[in-house]
Amino acid sequence: MTRSARHRRPIVTDQTLTVRDNRTGDEYELEITDGTVRASDLGKIGKTEDDPGIAVYDPGFTNTASTRSAVTFIDGEKGILEYRGYPIEQLAESSTFLEVAYLLIHGELPTKEQHDQWVHDITFHTFVHENLKSLMQGFRYDAHPMGMLLSSVGALSTFYPEARAIHDPDVRREQIVRMIAKMPTLGAWSFRHAQGKPYVYPDNELSYTENFLSMLFKMSEPKYDPDPRLAKALDVLLILHADHEQNCSTNAVRSVGSSQVDPYSAVSAGIAALYGPLHGGANEAVLRMLKRIGTKDKIPEFIEGVKNGDEKLMGFGHRVYKNYDPRAKIIKKACDDVFEVTGVNPLLEIAQELEKIALEDEYFVSRKLYPNVDFYSGLIYEALQFPPEMFTVLFAIGRTPGWLAQWLELVDDKEQKIARPKQVYTGDRTLEFVPAEQRWA
Ligand code: CMC
Repeated sequence: MTRSARHRRPIVTDQTLTVRDNRTGDEYELEITDGTVRASDLGKIGKTEDDPGIAVYDPGFTNTASTRSAVTFIDGEKGILEYRGYPIEQLAESSTFLEVAYLLIHGELPTKEQHDQWVHDITFHTFVHENLKSLMQGFRYDAHPMGMLLSSVGALSTFYPEARAIHDPDVRREQIVRMIAKMPTLGAWSFRHAQGKPYVYPDNELSYTENFLSMLFKMSEPKYDPDPRLAKALDVLLILHADHEQNCSTNAVRSVGSSQVDPYSAVSAGIAALYGPLHGGANEAVLRMLKRIGTKDKIPEFIEGVKNGDEKLMGFGHRVYKNYDPRAKIIKKACDDVFEVTGVNPLLEIAQELEKIALEDEYFVSRKLYPNVDFYSGLIYEALQFPPEMFTVLFAIGRTPGWLAQWLELVDDKEQKIARPKQVYTGDRTLEFVPAEQRWA
């Protein structure tokens, strides 16, 4: 028996929900499986030839499970995050990003041979076709790196048309390796592009994160020599972002992937979703907020503004975590390691004081508002000399194995169909069309 089969949570059945339709007095018994009822069972309620039955109205999917998944577990009340059952704290402390990527994709930790092969394969797929480089060079000088990343990942589908064979496991594996390998190359080149600097080719003698730093920052030196402490901190940040179950971008990957399109196109959709300020862009907003506050003595006034509803404390609060975001705790520690090399970011003092005051204040305590992953990550990224536009690119590189693990799960899931939600139609019906020449006469 495999490890994941041994530890997998049992499916809880044998429970039902009785629903009485007060329009007709009819009663229905719905099966409850793992705390959910099937929307299709609700569709049987009141169904007649003229009535399609009851549907669920849930904008933003706030209470709708779109899939069964064995990739990531979150308990927001307790502040728990696990990848394939392993606590995020242990992975961040003792694993590497590529090992975590293997775990997410395969569902198991690798043996030494599997690990070495995986690292070798990813290392030797970091180069991209020269025509893709030309495509990236065609962007405007000030193109946003996320726009460049999502376009170039989408363009990869044209370089690997065989990727369309999504039901062939060998083809799938090849594209997964390629995408995890090439993402730092494309991300780093989008950064160099904005700076007007030559693109740096991958150095396959370096580790995944060291090579990324080399492609970002190498100038005329024959070999880039990354600081191992910075490479480690970046590796930890990638681990922390590697998956987060059915968030907006993962849902985009699954939704687009459900049309059976190739994985480059599906992941490109995920990058587009991550681009938005409500998803991947909050760390940038934290940095702007800390700069605006400027000095510690301005904090009480700022907090009052938040409580009056004039401001938002960016980097605080989460839809799922109603406790300290476990990723924020780890990032706080990574800050110390990075600042040891780069010198302390003066904004750290403001962030720490802000956190201290907020965690003692009734407004934040009663609403269960705690620091989230974005509260400290922007400070690290800035110390590593990334401009704010690059923050979301780093998030995307980290999230790639998660998107791909979820995509794989989708492709193999017999219950999945093409994503096609219902709507509640609120518009006009059966209007009489009057041709333009008559309407405008
Ligand atoms: N500052 C001040 N008040 C807040 C904040 C905040 N950051 N977050 C929530 N609240 C208040 C909110 O006003 C509401 O108060 P009331 O009950 O009096 O109306 C209450 O807390 C509940 O908030 P909500 O807006 O209903 O919660 P939500 O689950 O819809 O929103 C959130 C979650 C993350 C969008 C929100 O907390 C927020 O906007 N935070 C700041 C932005 C941020 O840091 N985003 C990063 C999220 S983590 C990265 C990721 O996973 O993408």
